[in-house]
Amino acid sequence: MTDSAVEAHFDEVIARHDRIEPRDWMPDAYRRTLVRQIAQHAHSEIIGMQPEGNWISRAPSLRRKAILLAKVQDEAGHGLYLYSAAETLGVSRDELVDNLLTGKQKYSSIFNYPTLSYADVGTIGWLVDGAAICNQVPLCRTSYGPYGRAMIRICKEESFHQRQGYELLMTMMRGTPEQQEMVQESVNRFWWPSLMMFGPPDENSPNSERSMAWGIKRNSNDDLRQKFVDMTVPQADALGICLPDPSLAWNASREHYDFGEPDWDELAAVIRGDGPCNAQRIEHRRRAHEDGAWVREAATAFAAGGEIGD
Ligand SMILES: [Fe+2]
Ligand SMILES: [Fe+2]
Repeated sequence: MTDSAVEAHFDEVIARHDRIEPRDWMPDAYRRTLVRQIAQHAHSEIIGMQPEGNWISRAPSLRRKAILLAKVQDEAGHGLYLYSAAETLGVSRDELVDNLLTGKQKYSSIFNYPTLSYADVGTIGWLVDGAAICNQVPLCRTSYGPYGRAMIRICKEESFHQRQGYELLMTMMRGTPEQQEMVQESVNRFWWPSLMMFGPPDENSPNSERSMAWGIKRNSNDDLRQKFVDMTVPQADALGICLPDPSLAWNASREHYDFGEPDWDELAAVIRGDGPCNAQRIEHRRRAHEDGAWVREAATAFAAGGEIGD
């Protein structure tokens, strides 16, 4: 096929909302955008294990520990599917890991906040995984095949994550006044950072438009944020939790909830590296990577035909 024919093929696949596959021709900028987005997503899953992993050794019961372990292991799996999807675009795993550890590529700002009580496990499941679901369900229809297929599996597990969080909070809200207070305090800390997970407002999101034209993104940041708020307010009411936003109110003419403006300077600072836990998260990941070197060496030797114990 000629250059213009392969280009026409790409445009046509995008126009009919079909999938681009690894062997198809694609514009360089499309490939770069995808590598950046999928890598950032993979890094978020991996770093996202840390805030909740912090509580595995202190879970209040065997049942809670089993649930939390399963959830954190799912996040590791999500990271691995996504690194594999990124590798189909011609980047290596080593490069991706290096980009995370050197700060060349980012991960979701939400994971730079600390987890101060066990209620945070519930709040993260309910709000953070809830926000992730809003972001990720439309990505099941993204134009790049391996990314979209990874997202289908991931979304099924994310809904389990959200439910376990909601169920934990419901149990605590039926508990003692101290437990109820613990939940409210936790939600107060995580509400605004959860809204920031959808990224800056549309007018300050320079790459969004092109990503939408390419079918990588299917909805704008502000639309997804609104969807999340609309979904979450009735759940907060059912739980008996007060969301920390005085301007939150049903708007009958818009048929949506109105809500206040997140502190965008705070988001910019956390992305820049000045969040409460940025340095700690990367340091922990670097140590885990170094501690795992022997596993990678053993796997490489085994793949090359040696035997364990040679
Ligand atoms: Fe995940
Ligand atoms: Fe999750």
